[in-house]
Amino acid sequence: MIKDKFDFLIQEIEDLKRNSRYNNIRVIEGPQGSWVTIEGRKKLNLCSNNYLGLANHPEIISFCIEGIKKYGIGPGAVRSIAGTNILHIELERKLSEFKHTEDTVLFQSGFNANLAVVPTFLDSPDDAVISDELNHASIIDSIRLSKAKRFIYRHVDMDDLESKLKEASFARRKMVITDGVFSMDGDIAPLPQIVELCSRYDAILVVDDAHGEGVLGRNGRGIVDHFDLHGKVDIEVGTLSKAFGVVGGFVSSNYKVIEFLKQKARPFLFSSALTIPDTLAVIKALDIILNTDVVEKLWINTNYFKTEMRKLGFDLGNSQTPITPVMLFDESLTQEFARMLFDEDVFAMPIFYPTVPKNKARIRVMISAVHSRDDLDFALEKFQKVRKKIGI
Ligand SMILES: Cc1ncc(COP(=O)(O)O)c(C=O)c1O
Repeated sequence: MIKDKFDFLIQEIEDLKRNSRYNNIRVIEGPQGSWVTIEGRKKLNLCSNNYLGLANHPEIISFCIEGIKKYGIGPGAVRSIAGTNILHIELERKLSEFKHTEDTVLFQSGFNANLAVVPTFLDSPDDAVISDELNHASIIDSIRLSKAKRFIYRHVDMDDLESKLKEASFARRKMVITDGVFSMDGDIAPLPQIVELCSRYDAILVVDDAHGEGVLGRNGRGIVDHFDLHGKVDIEVGTLSKAFGVVGGFVSSNYKVIEFLKQKARPFLFSSALTIPDTLAVIKALDIILNTDVVEKLWINTNYFKTEMRKLGFDLGNSQTPITPVMLFDESLTQEFARMLFDEDVFAMPIFYPTVPKNKARIRVMISAVHSRDDLDFALEKFQKVRKKIGI
């Protein structure tokens, strides 16, 4: 009998199911918002990255519709051939202003922006990259694409970072790279100390601010503003797919770094430009972030929900941001908890290995500015109810 060459996949999928690591992918039957429709029923949405509610904002939608009539939809090509639209230039200028940096270059996603950074600057085994152990997968893959020697330091452990910097003293170029806000735990990198170490050991510092933009700092300007470190972080990577509400990524830095990325970075040279609607949406989103109280609302909701959850005795780990991990540790328990929440009309996804380490499973609640107090009270009541039912 001829064997199906994909039979091995069946075994692997079965293993995922048996180990409670199978992703049950839910389908949203309408726009993003504090409530979404899934399987024909309204569910309270506690797991999108739509921090500020901009993924379905009426002013952004109207602005995009008008802009599309003028500029179309598709970029047509990679940026370096025929894909650079005047809107890309405008957005890059606006993002630089927002971040207080000299210049910015857009990418098609935050993942691609990270992929662009490490291999473009570190292209020899004589280079060294030093990375926090909990950095996002896109940073890990960027490191894999680089020829540099790799050093991983224990999560936010500054002594370990320093010892890795010492080990890397042989290097022609050294780069330290960290998430600003850690995406699964919601804690914040100790950036002032990292800046100090990078300056002492002459290392390039890269911060991925995916979960800081629109969240931390004045008007959501991000982690560098939060710590008042303008001009001290060499390279900031950003995403347009969280607080900004669409899809895309960017790097903000000085003129030299941005010019070099435009000449050399493979995701810039070999993947088509950001779409016109995404670009338009963020041009408008920046106006809303800078001129309304959306960021403040996000923090009011975050502080309320986390205080009440802690009062109820839930373990929220070391979260310092709207990313709220409800730590349950056991993988099958976490899956069961999320299933029961879903039956109670609360949509909150379980997160487990390999997204987080083994036995560190959690339900990751994402708070948004568009949640009402009633929404948050509904969530609190359901978390309590499910916990009682399960008996933990
Ligand atoms: C820390 C971090 N960096 C990068 C990314 C990738 O961003 P994007 O979804 O825009 O590709 C994410 C999103 O999952 C993230 O959490």
